[in-house]
Amino acid sequence: MSSRNALTFLKTYIASPNVTGAVAPSSRGLALALTSPLRAHQSPSRILEVGAGIGPVTRVIGDCLGPEDRLDVCEIQPELADVLESGPLSQGKLASARNEGRVRLIRAPIQEVEAVGTYDFVISGLPFTAFDLESVREIVSVIRSSMKPCGVFSYFEYIALRAIGRNLGLKSTKERLRPVSAFLDEMIADYQIKRQSVMLNIPPAYARHLVFADAKSDDA
Ligand SMILES: C[S@@+](CC[C@H](N)C(=O)[O-])C[C@H]1O[C@@H](n2cnc3c(N)ncnc32)[C@H](O)[C@@H]1O
Repeated sequence: MSSRNALTFLKTYIASPNVTGAVAPSSRGLALALTSPLRAHQSPSRILEVGAGIGPVTRVIGDCLGPEDRLDVCEIQPELADVLESGPLSQGKLASARNEGRVRLIRAPIQEVEAVGTYDFVISGLPFTAFDLESVREIVSVIRSSMKPCGVFSYFEYIALRAIGRNLGLKSTKERLRPVSAFLDEMIADYQIKRQSVMLNIPPAYARHLVFADAKSDDA
């Protein structure tokens, strides 16, 4: 990943912190954790990556893309979609799969993606803790209905960020974050099948994996 692209990412954070939600792209370790269910998958599969940024996770998804898999990559910010287009999506296996029509870049918010019962895997980089409750509910509902019944939803959150914001943040942050956090806790309690801790990331993060039809947790 070039430092120019990392700078583009940082600039989008400075301009729109509540959309970008992170100062730095995810590490390869976090990308590997997020894609761990996908890396054990059977082809053909339908995959959706949401909030791809400059593509650290997209690259790892590309590495494990099977010959009949199809990938949709969704990114709301045009500057970051441009980086995806000229970077990861123009290289190696992703470029050939794109030429075959198996990889699609969706330059739009996930809320506008119309897919029902489509995806086996949804991998999200969305910063839920930067959103308000209404947006989180809407996005989770869109993601959930876009998935096949036993599909796996993988996303990350920074360790302790919610607790810090809920307890030590500004009044407005606390008021926004408390209901978001309660919603996420309930979703995790009901549907998480696995959690991985990734220390080699800025900041350290949990990769969480959920199946909306299932309900057991296994910490790693
Ligand atoms: C925390 S960054 C993660 C980027 C990348 N996945 C990574 O791990 O480095 C969140 C990304 O989600 C994108 N995003 C935010 N809201 C979105 C939405 N409603 N639909 C699609 N993408 C969105 C942002 O533009 C940003 O690229």
